[in-house]
Amino acid sequence: MTGNLAIIILAAGQGTRMKSRLPKVLHPIGGRPLVGHVLTTAARLEAQHIEVVVRHERDQVVAALTADYPDAVFIDQDDVPGTGRAVQVAIDALPGDFDGDVLVLSGDVPLLEVETLRGLIDGHRAAAAAATLLSARLDDPTGYGRVIRDDEGTVQRIVEQKDATADEAAVTEINAGVYVFRAPELRTYLAQVGQDNAQGEMYLTTVIELLRAADQRVAAEIAVDTASTFGINDRIQLAEAGRVLNDRIVRRWQREGVTVIDPATTWIDDDANLSPDVTILPNTHILRATVIAPGAIIGPDTTLVDCEVGENAIVRRTDATLAVIGAEATVGPFSFLRPGTVLGAKGKIGAYVETKNAEIGEGSKVPHLSYVGDATIGRGVNLGASTITANYDDVNKHRTEIGDEVHTGSHTVLVAPVRLGAGAKTAAGAVVRKDVPAGALAMSVAPQRNVEGWVEKNRAGTGAADAASRENSAE
Ligand code: UD1
Ligand code: CA
Repeated sequence: MTGNLAIIILAAGQGTRMKSRLPKVLHPIGGRPLVGHVLTTAARLEAQHIEVVVRHERDQVVAALTADYPDAVFIDQDDVPGTGRAVQVAIDALPGDFDGDVLVLSGDVPLLEVETLRGLIDGHRAAAAAATLLSARLDDPTGYGRVIRDDEGTVQRIVEQKDATADEAAVTEINAGVYVFRAPELRTYLAQVGQDNAQGEMYLTTVIELLRAADQRVAAEIAVDTASTFGINDRIQLAEAGRVLNDRIVRRWQREGVTVIDPATTWIDDDANLSPDVTILPNTHILRATVIAPGAIIGPDTTLVDCEVGENAIVRRTDATLAVIGAEATVGPFSFLRPGTVLGAKGKIGAYVETKNAEIGEGSKVPHLSYVGDATIGRGVNLGASTITANYDDVNKHRTEIGDEVHTGSHTVLVAPVRLGAGAKTAAGAVVRKDVPAGALAMSVAPQRNVEGWVEKNRAGTGAADAASRENSAE
């Protein structure tokens, strides 16, 4: 954006209507706090200054945002309440000679798109207005400030719902809480704003009527996409905005060549990255910075958080966090991949398997009922059904190392720390406490001994004894 621009983002309010311990502006949609969406959009306008006004739980708000938005400057609002005061402390923190335009955004209006803001600023400059506000016509304007125009259609003032007469409340054009002001006029008229209203606050909106009374030009743009002006005050609106954002994200990926079978039950975070020819089946959540390569099939009923999925991999009914799934690997159904799971190309993690801090080599398989934690597994390995790494000795965690081409028998317990050399095998039910050399077979279960006739002798009269006698006499 050319020219002198400062952006002020209002994020000091508590958001009482959320009834939450978490400050309202930190409630997430699409994997990012509400105010994070506003900051992401603001960053794209290349302003000289970006200020975020904070007060309620200011440390928590600052901590949640500094890493992702290093260019933002946090400004503390004092005890004087209201959006007018918030803007005043922010403009006072700008260099005294700043005479450009000030774009005011609300931390709780997360869906605005950068093109809308560019249009607002361009219009403001073209009209040489002292202030330009963004409005929208809503079927239900409840809760918003109403835009009051005169007979010629010129904006006169904004009336908050709590201060509105019945006639004013019937107006359906609402103030989106997004404005461009010329800095000098904003400074001058903010200084005249009082707290004489239903909420006893310094309203930023009062500046509009002060400008009009001084015959300054106030312009308004009516947003075409009304959803983009949604302000979030309660949890119902939070869910509505989350749905609108998700619809946008899903459509974006559909345009990029992703098949989404059921958009209504598919949730994709803003930071996720998909590829052409990915297929997403119903009830699937692709969260945080998850990256999915072309041709992968994900779902149904799958949640991926910060995962990496390789080309043509298949991931069904799976819950995975911070896991890497190789190309052409298959995962699920009913698999639980915890952080540090790295499954090699063409590998398999099957039904009722939990993994954690486990590197599983190319083409290696953990097909059924296993726990694999703190393990390094080579290539071409097959862990028999119900093979378990016993990685915890009640005090410390230990590693299991498994060489290439190892096959374990069903129900093997690998008591870590332990190492199985390349090509080693274990017998069914083995409890492996000592290292197994390459190519050795490990057995730890005593040979089986059958005591004939035991049931008929010791359990006479039971169903088992009767069944046994029938089978034995038939022979
Ligand atoms: C505000 C507008 C209203 C508009 C609506 C749009 C005013 C007086 N009213 O009402 O006309 O229709 O937004 O969504 O401006 N904040 C501060 N400091 C404060 C108070 C609020 O930084 O002292 C921040 C809040 O954190 C929030 C934003 O300003 O991000 C808006 O405050 P909120 O209390 O939600 O205002 P609304 O009642 O929604
Ligand atoms: Ca609001």
